[in-house]
Amino acid sequence: MMELEMDKLVSLCKRRGFIFPSSEVYGGINGFWDYGPMGVELKRNIKDAWWRDNVQMRDDMVGLDCSIIMNPKVWEASGHVGGFSDPMVDCRATKERYRADQMYVFAYLFPATNAKGEPTEAWLAGLGGSPGEAAEAVEKRAAKLAKKFGKPADPPVVTPYLEVAADDRIKVIGPSTDEAGTLTEPRSFNLMFKTYVGALESESNVAYLRPETAQGIFANFKNVVDTARVKLPFGIAQVGKSFRNEINPRNFTFRSREFEQMEIEFFCRPEEAKDWYKYWRDARFAWYTGLGLKSEKLRLRDHDAEELAFYSTATADIEYSFPFGVSELEGIAHRGDYDLTQHMKFSGKDLSYFDEEKKERFTPHVIEPSAGADRATLAFLCEAYTEDEVGGEIRTVLKFHPRIAPVKAAVFPLVKRDGMPEKAEAIYRELKRSYNVAYDEKGAVGRRYRRQDEAGTPFCITIDSQTNADDTVTFRDRDSCRQWRVPAAGAVQALRDLLDGKPVPSAE
Ligand code: GAP
Repeated sequence: MMELEMDKLVSLCKRRGFIFPSSEVYGGINGFWDYGPMGVELKRNIKDAWWRDNVQMRDDMVGLDCSIIMNPKVWEASGHVGGFSDPMVDCRATKERYRADQMYVFAYLFPATNAKGEPTEAWLAGLGGSPGEAAEAVEKRAAKLAKKFGKPADPPVVTPYLEVAADDRIKVIGPSTDEAGTLTEPRSFNLMFKTYVGALESESNVAYLRPETAQGIFANFKNVVDTARVKLPFGIAQVGKSFRNEINPRNFTFRSREFEQMEIEFFCRPEEAKDWYKYWRDARFAWYTGLGLKSEKLRLRDHDAEELAFYSTATADIEYSFPFGVSELEGIAHRGDYDLTQHMKFSGKDLSYFDEEKKERFTPHVIEPSAGADRATLAFLCEAYTEDEVGGEIRTVLKFHPRIAPVKAAVFPLVKRDGMPEKAEAIYRELKRSYNVAYDEKGAVGRRYRRQDEAGTPFCITIDSQTNADDTVTFRDRDSCRQWRVPAAGAVQALRDLLDGKPVPSAE
């Protein structure tokens, strides 16, 4: 299988209007991205598929859309406020924890560069220092480092740790170890964006942009139970923006500061929670494969006991092997009754559930499948990106599942005469009533096909000279490049069938 380079995908996303850096005309802003005309369709299709499959197609799920700014007590109850608020770095080797803003790095500049003239890993190897460390101790460790990499340029550049930590290429050696790469990323325990509600910028007016959509669901649990005639087991789903002031946003949209989540809180009886956890773990994995994440790059990983949050008895991650490494797309967590109990404690309101049949009152347990719309979009883009050879030329094609493809079909008149544009436009107008379709009459038809291949359009429909003779049009399949004829009057139905999964006719 072809190995995708991230640079190629990023440049295709820019070129074809999928994803742009936010406010690019002003130099951008780290950790924020904009979805262009193609990207917004792709991401919307993914969110719509999620909503359709997880909410509308089910009898045991209802939706919710709550405000981004909520009463700050919500975040006290959830534990998002009140923890550490400084970025910290852990050393995996020594188990020491350091305040990242108090660390500095002696960056020993080794003269090695790669073919592009960029500094290599060895060139940038550095020694992490901590405030109390004597200069001689750092010198001593520097000598050891020199044995490994050769003689460094002198003197070392002293840099705040947070600056180098944002650079993937630098492997800093922690203050109490000789091994490189043992330091975790700086992690902040309070990543929330703070703002003020109302005219006064005082402590009593502080509010936060939500860092997850989940808490809005818990805060509305009673409203939903009282109004929606739901009975356990049932879920509440929400799709919406979340914000985290990530210390180190990176890997394109993978870790952003503003992103969208697609979250479910599924409430059930405590004794049924284990089975529901297993159900959601498998159902969510199947959702991705059903939409085309079929390769071995997708995997389900159960957390070890040490990785679990103290209130969780089981958690699994759905992971995807991106070009920058295997990383999480979605987490499915068995959260017990932790969240509802916390909100009862902090709000003083009763959020328990009364089972009419069993005449029992209890706090439901929760299974939480929590996905990221941007990460899903990135995974679908990575999976779809393909380069193959067609007619002796390398073509770039995005092989999206038709359900998420931004444009479902493109209609072309072969030439701009002989009544072809009029016929093509009539078919285009008819298709547009049901689908997002494109019309293109510019340039050679081969180039028009390539343009649609790059945008991931699954089918093209061409009106050509034969159309005038027998009133048929040419259908063309993106992945196989196979072409076949369909009566013009049946073009809409033929496209509908293909989008519904009818196989492309085999070659005659
Ligand atoms: N309510 C649980 C929760 O928010 P999480 O693992 O912190 O759990 C869930 O986030 C999902 O949200 C992740 O699996 C990921 O898809 C997405 N996500 C989290 N932080 C993100 C970020 N900085 N950028 C993009 N997506 C993010």
